[in-house]
Amino acid sequence: MMMSFLRAAQGPSLAAQACAPIGVFDSGIGGLSVWRHLRATLPHEDFIYVADNANVPYGDKPEEWIQARMVQMFDWFLAQGCKAIVIACNTATAAAATHLRGVYPDVFIVGLEPAIKPALLLTKNHSIAMLATARTVQSAKYEALLKRTVLPELNMAVLSIPCVGLAERIDAGLMDAPDTLDLIKQYLKPVQAAQADVVVLGCTHYPFVVQHIRALLDKNVQIIDSGAPVARYTKDVLCARHGLNPQQIEGYSRWYASSLSPDSDEHWRILSGQADVRVQQINLERE
Ligand code: DGL
Repeated sequence: MMMSFLRAAQGPSLAAQACAPIGVFDSGIGGLSVWRHLRATLPHEDFIYVADNANVPYGDKPEEWIQARMVQMFDWFLAQGCKAIVIACNTATAAAATHLRGVYPDVFIVGLEPAIKPALLLTKNHSIAMLATARTVQSAKYEALLKRTVLPELNMAVLSIPCVGLAERIDAGLMDAPDTLDLIKQYLKPVQAAQADVVVLGCTHYPFVVQHIRALLDKNVQIIDSGAPVARYTKDVLCARHGLNPQQIEGYSRWYASSLSPDSDEHWRILSGQADVRVQQINLERE
């Protein structure tokens, strides 16, 4: 993150846009786990959160589809005047961040990557496991991350597990359903066999089932995700580019989804920890 911080921090001043909101995107409710860190770290910022849940999961969509959809999404965020866009989705970052940086060279884009670097510092037995969508595990971006970080380390093993079906069950609110627990059990078997002592949650949906993951692992296993470091990074870059919102009151958050259900508000309230959530419909096809 150091190199990318230096590059992002040297971008043009954001002073003129300091009062503008920050866009936060995920394929569904997973990004709310990142939004919680952003809210806590940047209390005076305004946020616009969008879930493209009509199309969740992104994890089994072709890369080209995700790239085209993200361009539509970015155009919408920019039409709302966002000064920064956080792609709170490992899958969309892996598939589209490089493409988006090419299309929008002047936009401050924050991407997410599995927290492999922090895991390398934490592991004591050189055995790390990373859980993510199939799209993230198979991506060139993830392969490059492993090459950059893990390859130079001697005897370091990273077990990357594509957890097909898990994000969509979480997105449907089925965190505690018996077959979700069966799926988690199945995906953790190789983690237990490898005796990994650090487990990286490489999908922003997974923090919402961390209690079930924790229950199946040894007490000494550390479970980490990218939410806190990404929030700090966003704050540091905004600060370096004079883009922090100067308002002294708590910022607002607006909530949008591409598919609404009768219990959307209640579901989002619980996951965001906010009392007054009203999710609005976003229809990119019509905008
Ligand atoms: N939350 C997304 C991530 O971090 C993935 C969910 C999906 O497959 O749409 O990868």
